[in-house]
Amino acid sequence: MWDRFLRACRREPVDVTPVWFMRQAGRYMAEYRALRAKYTLLELCKNPELATQVTLQPVNAHQVDAAILFADILLPLEPMGAPFEFAKGEGPVIHEPVRDRAAVERLRVIDPEEGLGYVLDAIKMIRKELDGKTPLIGFAGAPFTLASYLIEGGKSSNYALTKRMMYNEPETWNLLMSKFSEVVRRYLHAQVKAGANAVQLFDSWVGSLSPTDYEEYILPHVSLILKDLEKTGVPVIHFGTDTATLLELQKRAGGTVIGVDWRTPLDQAITRLGTDVAVQGNLDPLLLGAPRELLGRRVDDILQRATGAAGHIFNLGHGILPDTDPDAVKFVVDHVHSYQKRA
Ligand code: CP3
Repeated sequence: MWDRFLRACRREPVDVTPVWFMRQAGRYMAEYRALRAKYTLLELCKNPELATQVTLQPVNAHQVDAAILFADILLPLEPMGAPFEFAKGEGPVIHEPVRDRAAVERLRVIDPEEGLGYVLDAIKMIRKELDGKTPLIGFAGAPFTLASYLIEGGKSSNYALTKRMMYNEPETWNLLMSKFSEVVRRYLHAQVKAGANAVQLFDSWVGSLSPTDYEEYILPHVSLILKDLEKTGVPVIHFGTDTATLLELQKRAGGTVIGVDWRTPLDQAITRLGTDVAVQGNLDPLLLGAPRELLGRRVDDILQRATGAAGHIFNLGHGILPDTDPDAVKFVVDHVHSYQKRA
């Protein structure tokens, strides 16, 4: 069923639960490592032929129910005026972190066609290659998560500089959030126009905030993006991690599917969120390294807990880790698809 994933997002009946994985293309796959030996991550992202090839690798290898565009949430930073690189073993490094009003003012609110055209070209090419057999998910980073990289200059354990700006310079913070919201809103719209069948907003690090701060500093901006995208009619997945205390607020901010990580039992998330949104999740990525018997039981437990959901898309609670065994990924796909038959 080509649209099993889209049907679950729309809370329509499905033959079996659809499954895909965040970071389903990446270093755990030999095919990906072979390409990375020849090209940097940014070269892969910026070349539509290569991005298409990488996007299709997990679709062909594991028969997942959705493809996710191969790109990175940080790509918009460069045309906005904040170039970065992926340093070996360290993750992203922003050359000149943005930490004051003047630097925020200098950031450009770009149209995606200026500087991100290669992403839109990749989407068109991937859709052609998928040939109506598998839907394609586009994505972008959410304002808080993008701001955390831009301000800290890379990954962070406590987001101290980010929160310092948020609490001490609320006007600068709101200007930064407004700029990101507008760029991301335009970017996701352009992805839908280019052919993305669904979009996911990654607010990976927003779980570092209290509900009070989320409501005051984040929700109005994220809401602007999500409510506008909902009008396109494509499913909009709203994802974060460590969001056990934020789920209701995230739902209020918007999205037709809410991502849930493994810290919250899925049945509890469904009770709290209600049946007017679908849910996505929520296996701990490290369970992919557990013995098959345990992995299988945990997959079934999630499917059992999802019984009351109006729509459920099976996924991890966060991305696949680099040392994951590809056979474990394939095992989960088969286990999810065979659940009804086995139950
Ligand atoms: O999911 C997919 O298969 C699509 C591709 C994708 C990538 N990044 C490619 C990538 C997606 C959806 C992302 C999103 C992304 N990027 C997020 C949000 C999701 C999440 O994991 O929370 C974040 C925070 C980033 C920023 C980023 N990109 C970091 C922190 C790193 C370094 C991480 C590391 O493990 O080294 C990246 C690099 C990156 N982006 C890789 C991939 C496949 C690692 C690749 C490599 O070096 O070849």
